[in-house]
Amino acid sequence: MKPVIDTKCAGCHQDGGIAPFPLTTTEQVQGMKNAILHSVCERSMPPWPAHRDCNQYNHDRSLSDEQIALIRDWVRAGAPLGNESDAPAETPPASAQLSRVDLELAMSEPYTPQVHPDEYRCFMLDWPETEEKFITGIGVRPGKTDIVHHVLLAAVPPENLSAYLQADEADPGPGFSCPGGPNPPNGPLDSRGVMIGGWVPGGEGRDLPAGTGIRIQPGSKLVMQLHYNTSSAPPAPDLSRLLLKLDGSVEHEAFFFPFTNPEWVRDRKMPIPKGESDAFHIWRYNALDFASRVSKKQIRDTAPISVYGAQLHMHQRGTRTALTVEKGDKEKACLLEIPEWNFHWQGVNFLQQPVRISPGDDLRIECHWNNAGFTPHHGAPLPAVSDLNWGEGTNDEMCVAFLYVTQE
Ligand code: HEC
Repeated sequence: MKPVIDTKCAGCHQDGGIAPFPLTTTEQVQGMKNAILHSVCERSMPPWPAHRDCNQYNHDRSLSDEQIALIRDWVRAGAPLGNESDAPAETPPASAQLSRVDLELAMSEPYTPQVHPDEYRCFMLDWPETEEKFITGIGVRPGKTDIVHHVLLAAVPPENLSAYLQADEADPGPGFSCPGGPNPPNGPLDSRGVMIGGWVPGGEGRDLPAGTGIRIQPGSKLVMQLHYNTSSAPPAPDLSRLLLKLDGSVEHEAFFFPFTNPEWVRDRKMPIPKGESDAFHIWRYNALDFASRVSKKQIRDTAPISVYGAQLHMHQRGTRTALTVEKGDKEKACLLEIPEWNFHWQGVNFLQQPVRISPGDDLRIECHWNNAGFTPHHGAPLPAVSDLNWGEGTNDEMCVAFLYVTQE
């Protein structure tokens, strides 16, 4: 029992951690036993939204059926104190690690969150390297561990910087408000930075899949979106740092490309009518054709790609979403499925076994929303609002996947 709590919960549930209460002593765990039982049986804790039947991922935080049974039996037996000598040897934490730190970048000055309880703020970080480099691992050292909830990161090449710098200029104080992601709220879509990944509490960070990395040109900037959550700790000045592992070359250059229906974005053809409790949109398209276009032909459409990781993104009123590879009409490969969308726990899921996509295969994305008024898990009630559509604001929606791929 204790090893399960130590390795699966205490990374966040500790003094000064992001979770609202610690689970580091027997008394604390006993005192919370009913809430613990409820949260693990519902699988709302540890936060791990990916569906277990879809695929297998590295650093899976979720509990096995046996671990849940162990917790259930312990609570039902009255949460007895164990015998120290019976305690199994400590299993090393399964949390992800960054194997090396080559570059540390910090926010230029501390920032105190202004919006309660959730604020999304983007900070521009100068990229000091004068030669082309590959990012091969990402970590974050939060300034205030009890309010930094998660971090998303993108790289902006020199030619696309102006919209980011304008947004930074226009918003008083360090950084700029960016509820929709690491982008300027009204910036042009065709000159976005590229996603690099993200970080959630409970680990130092992690290496990208072995042999892969993302190319960064000299003169770029990184944009770091911090999600501050002040529901269990008061706002305080935060100065967070980004830790990066860099290599001069990699075996396979990786690309993070977005997959979404361009008509949803360009023509706002993604209506989510007011009062609809299960509005949904589905799009299926030739994967390599799409990847080649959005990567400006850096990914060739004539050779297969390997998918190492995937992320799905919607906003607050999302309820469930899925991303699949479809080979002809029969064969399917599930890349990521999130049966109960939780806006607070988003991130890249890296696959244990890469999935190959061949020329001719399709990608299919499906998103569902509730615009009839509902209360999401772990969230405040969300009233129905006038017809929703694609956009960057809190009362807009999105339906987009990011795929971490290599070619060859
Ligand atoms: C990655 C960080 C993280 C890990 C790991 C984690 N928690 Fe949590 N936990 C949180 C946060 C943050 C909250 C506050 C609610 C939220 O943001 O979802 C929370 C809330 C809770 C709550 C309050 C009720 C609820 O469901 O919101 C319980 C009970 C709980 N956690 C138990 C656990 C147990 C038991 C484990 C391990 C089996 C665990 N947590 C692992 C971050 C974590």
